[in-house]
Amino acid sequence: MDRQAKFENANITALGEAARRFIGKPGKLLIDGKWENAASGKVFDVIDPATEQVVCQVAEGDKADVDRAVKAARKQFDGGDWSRLTAANRQNLLLKLADLIDRNGDELAPLESLDNGKLGLFAKMIDVHGTAEFLRYMAGWATKIEGRTLDVSIGIPNMEFQAYTLRQPVGVCGQIIPWNFPLAMAVWKLAPALAAGCTCVLKPAEQTPLTALRLGELILEAGFPPGVVNVITGYGETAGAALVEHPGVDKIAFTGSTEVGKAIGKSAMNTLKRLSLELGGKSPVIVAEDADLASTIPGVANAIFFNQGEVCTAGSRLYVADSIFDKVVAGVADIAKSMKLGPGYDPTSQMGPLVSKEQHERVLGYIEKGRKEGGEVVAGGAKHGDKGYFVQPTVFTKCGPQSTIVREEIFGPVVVATPYKSVDDIVAVANDTQYGLAAGVFTKDLSFAHRVVKRLRAGTIWVNCYGLVDPNLPFGGFKSSGMGRENGAAAIDLYTEQKTVLMSV
Ligand code: NAI
Ligand code: MG
Repeated sequence: MDRQAKFENANITALGEAARRFIGKPGKLLIDGKWENAASGKVFDVIDPATEQVVCQVAEGDKADVDRAVKAARKQFDGGDWSRLTAANRQNLLLKLADLIDRNGDELAPLESLDNGKLGLFAKMIDVHGTAEFLRYMAGWATKIEGRTLDVSIGIPNMEFQAYTLRQPVGVCGQIIPWNFPLAMAVWKLAPALAAGCTCVLKPAEQTPLTALRLGELILEAGFPPGVVNVITGYGETAGAALVEHPGVDKIAFTGSTEVGKAIGKSAMNTLKRLSLELGGKSPVIVAEDADLASTIPGVANAIFFNQGEVCTAGSRLYVADSIFDKVVAGVADIAKSMKLGPGYDPTSQMGPLVSKEQHERVLGYIEKGRKEGGEVVAGGAKHGDKGYFVQPTVFTKCGPQSTIVREEIFGPVVVATPYKSVDDIVAVANDTQYGLAAGVFTKDLSFAHRVVKRLRAGTIWVNCYGLVDPNLPFGGFKSSGMGRENGAAAIDLYTEQKTVLMSV
């Protein structure tokens, strides 16, 4: 079926079967191809953020479970069935998994909505279908990993040399992911690792373990050998930290907060693990005087309100040319005021709840702080309803460059709008942040766009669009937004070691 048609026919009404099959049933850990309870026997609650109801409980994995999972992954990596597969075998397994994700999309999307709060339609298009496409893209890399042949200049009489490099899988990978795009982040981590021939222990965020567990089932169904992918649900401070410390893990890939990223980096260095970090952001969006307002206003609103603002690249600092500032702010405020909040699995909702009580309190705390520090709220500014972790889409103005909500990542639907006068000023202001994940520029003036793009210190810059990611485009941050680039060929580099071979011939 044509893919577009598939979206339109998607029946995302209430909760699908996949959601129902988890409700009231305990989730287990996936270790060595088997579903197991945590060694401690402990479990923790999974909450529907729209209703604050407990959906189910999942196993609380810890150090002992991580250890078993790492050993299973190691066994497959060091001479197990997995290590003997050809690159084409790995490609085919990944393609099969992609098909299974698409085939189960009507279940996975509402499950993601239930667990995270996000809109079902977006879950279907982006988190599920986008993830299947991501897998297909990475499947293609499995058969295209290559080394080089190199000339050498070593001058030893009567000796001749041949040199080349091999790209080989880095080993057992510990992958720790956040709650904002649970399924997509799981696959962003797993797919390049598996394409390269690594084995994995995945730790989903404690707030959103469900689609990773369902993914584990699909991985077994696709036919991956047991132990190639292990899924350990649990808390960061216990299961996550144990994975980072484990001497049997060769590489850690992490997406989450800058604070935890720094701690993970330090801990990973004790055993010199390979490391990639995708961390927070405070991304500026610059609107030039000549921007096409009909597309720019919804564009900049979407840059912050998409996925409840729970996006590392969220355009949370909006800088608008002086002359059009009032008009743009009024337009964004109108959009904010018009959005209908409700459960992600209700098809009439336009924004879902935040993921957790903790995040709800954090975002409301930032709004409070913004007000206290002199900011003016022109839309939203409060929680929504009595049940569920909803926050109104919020637009602030009149916040100084040093105010907390201009400097710190909020990770919610809160944007601060500020007018600017000259290009030079605005680039300096946009770069005045510890972060450097992304930025946006809206303009019709090509030379303005190019000049600003060159000067902005950020890993991805969108011009006249925002927030779009593609499997072929490197993704990651400058400065405190992270280390390394995911996606594209860069992702394969993260999951391979380079081996140099020098042969006397
Ligand atoms: P977090 O960084 O604490 O959690 C992300 C992942 O890391 C989760 O799987 C968690 O269990 C794990 N983790 C936490 N502490 C760990 C440790 N000591 N060792 C190993 N793993 C650990 O993020 P949290 O607390 O959920 O959110 C706090 C803030 O972080 C958010 O408000 C937002 O600003 C930022 N964040 C950024 C994300 C991004 O995509 N860059 C995603 C999630 C949060
Ligand atoms: Mg945390």
